[in-house]
Amino acid sequence: MKIIESDFQAWMGDIQARTEAVLARLLPPAHMAPARLHEAMRYATLEGGKRVRPLLVFAAGEVAAAAPERLEIAACAVELIHAYSLVHDDLPCMDNDVLRRGKPTVHVEYDQATALLVGDALQSLAFQLLADQRLADDARVQLDMVKTLAVAAGSRGMAGGQQIDLESTGKALTLPELEVMHIHKTGALIRGAVTLGAACGRVDPGQKNSLDKYGKAIGLAFQVVDDVLDYDASTSTLGKTAGKDSRQGKPTYVSTLGLARARELAGELRSEALAALEPLGGRAGRLGQLADFIVLRKF
Ligand code: IPE
Ligand code: IPE
Ligand code: MG
Ligand code: MG
Ligand code: MG
Repeated sequence: MKIIESDFQAWMGDIQARTEAVLARLLPPAHMAPARLHEAMRYATLEGGKRVRPLLVFAAGEVAAAAPERLEIAACAVELIHAYSLVHDDLPCMDNDVLRRGKPTVHVEYDQATALLVGDALQSLAFQLLADQRLADDARVQLDMVKTLAVAAGSRGMAGGQQIDLESTGKALTLPELEVMHIHKTGALIRGAVTLGAACGRVDPGQKNSLDKYGKAIGLAFQVVDDVLDYDASTSTLGKTAGKDSRQGKPTYVSTLGLARARELAGELRSEALAALEPLGGRAGRLGQLADFIVLRKF
């Protein structure tokens, strides 16, 4: 297994800091009315998380030689959708979680109604960002970016996957059913992040296809690893409650395949993702390193 190089760590730190700064600038100030909502939106979004989706936007942007000023906006749009999905995922009517990114969840720190509105408003802000300034050379490509994010977040993407997750609680799923759930609830937004990064620059149809294959494989790998870590890591390392999937009767890759086979599968998906990058050559280096990070991470 390749060790994550220090050059990658530095790049990752730069993108994470840049994402944090841009989000802090783009989110409404905490004192602006309605202050409780704005404060809670900032609480949900800032100072936390690995920022994997922004990292993917920037890494895909390298393949497309995209301008960083565009990528940072696309990256923040995806991260806002992700932050919203976490706030709603943690609500008592969904996973009923009290800890997220090492802090009390939004509905615990504020209240359930505010948490609901935080999710709504983060989602709206994400689309506002995609419509606000030029992000692609061709206006039609930028419209496609709006559609990409909408589909990734919607009923045929993340929200649909979350519905399958709720309906599956307490049941055993077959492997194909589990794959469908994970591809939607987590994979769709990750795949969308890769597509959006590429759209900020230029890629030919072959490159677009390679990036999409990568995004699909690494999106599924991400949730397989999330399932493994829920089983295998501690609450303090994760910054969220460990061991909840089995306590809540969630079908996962660990409950379906066992820990060892789930880990192996994550490795296979990593290989699949790396193979998809081969035709892209050196410009896809960061995407390759991110595949390693996503599968080898401990948190
Ligand atoms: C957790 O996502 C929820 C899933 C979609 C699996 P992340 O592991 O990316 O959470 P943060 O953003 O780093 O907190
Ligand atoms: C969440 O999956 C996927 C989302 C769309 C937020 P999980 O419910 O497994 O995420 P965690 O483990 O709470 O972060
Ligand atoms: Mg969940
Ligand atoms: Mg959850
Ligand atoms: Mg989980």
